Amino acid sequence: MNSNLPKHGGNLNQEARRLHCKTKQLLDASASIVPFEPPISLQQSLREAISNESLRSYPDWTYEELRIAIAKWHHITPKMVLPGNGAAELFTWAAREATKEGISCLPSPGFSDYARALRCWDGQFIETPLPMSWPSRMPQEFPLTKVSEVLWITNPHNPTGQLWSKESIEFQIKAHKLVICDEAFLPLVPNGENESMIPLVEKYSNLIVIRSLTKLFSIPGLRLGYAISNSERLQAWSRWRDPWPVNGLAVAGGINLMSHKASIHSWIDKVHNWIQEEGPWLQARLKEIPGISPKPSAVNFLLIQGDKSLTLLRKKLAEKYILLRDCRSFSYLGEKYLRMSFQTKTGNQRIVNTLRNLII
Ligand SMILES: Cc1ncc(COP(=O)(O)O)c(C=O)c1O
Repeated sequence: MNSNLPKHGGNLNQEARRLHCKTKQLLDASASIVPFEPPISLQQSLREAISNESLRSYPDWTYEELRIAIAKWHHITPKMVLPGNGAAELFTWAAREATKEGISCLPSPGFSDYARALRCWDGQFIETPLPMSWPSRMPQEFPLTKVSEVLWITNPHNPTGQLWSKESIEFQIKAHKLVICDEAFLPLVPNGENESMIPLVEKYSNLIVIRSLTKLFSIPGLRLGYAISNSERLQAWSRWRDPWPVNGLAVAGGINLMSHKASIHSWIDKVHNWIQEEGPWLQARLKEIPGISPKPSAVNFLLIQGDKSLTLLRKKLAEKYILLRDCRSFSYLGEKYLRMSFQTKTGNQRIVNTLRNLII
């Protein structure tokens, strides 16, 4: 595989330079972020944080207040929570643990950052192929059998959008020395929390759950995620990492989000309604376009499969300032696939109409 291919979506500055346009002219369906402006109360809390001591003093390195707020949200104890500089930072420490336990199984195609994290520690991994056809009924049983000591699960899976059932993941926890469950997209899935492994963290010491606030609240620039696992493990991670990995603004924003239950609930309802509206609409419209077919998905992105290579189509879409995720960097995918994240109705209509005009 060509190592110059983009490993993530959302490379807006790079694409804008290439297309000689401004980033705000681009409709970015290559990164799977909720397309709404971040919550107003979060924006206010960030403005306040700039004018108070959050900017002018070091963050509390124990992150106690933030840990308490996250723990309350999930009905667990604060010592089971470790905030991180996005989920991505926490994968680095999960990978250190994984490397100690043995070989990691990475269900593929999958999110590239797990391999990046494992390479930091010379960790060995096997990219195990997932079946590339699946029904539209969700959740589904996690389909792989045990091939190694450690298993990395993404629920729902990126890039396929499949939601795995909690029972089938619990079965994997019993079979493996360590299971790392990335739930970065789970809060976006209507009824997704039913499949969360967080309630099982106390029962299984070989389980690490990782969450991100990036996608749900549309804040990729803030960098805030958290790990939930047993406290001895998380204390070790705190000793290994740089001091103050989560900055004072992210701390203030995270406390604000997590402490306002009523407003988060209404935000999450809005996200679920949007996915329930746009998901079926996009499936139906994309199915009408010859030469491509959308794959079933539980979340805010879906894979588009082409009868032939979609590389030229992606380039032509980019010339119309629409970015879809190039899937050539994913193992076992290649040129016939593109990943598209859901936009507002206007954005989705623009993507569907442009696709139709380019193909027909
Ligand atoms: C499955 C998955 N997990 C985690 C992340 C990274 O999350 P964060 O922005 O919190 O580092 C991504 C980003 O694309 C992702 O796709």
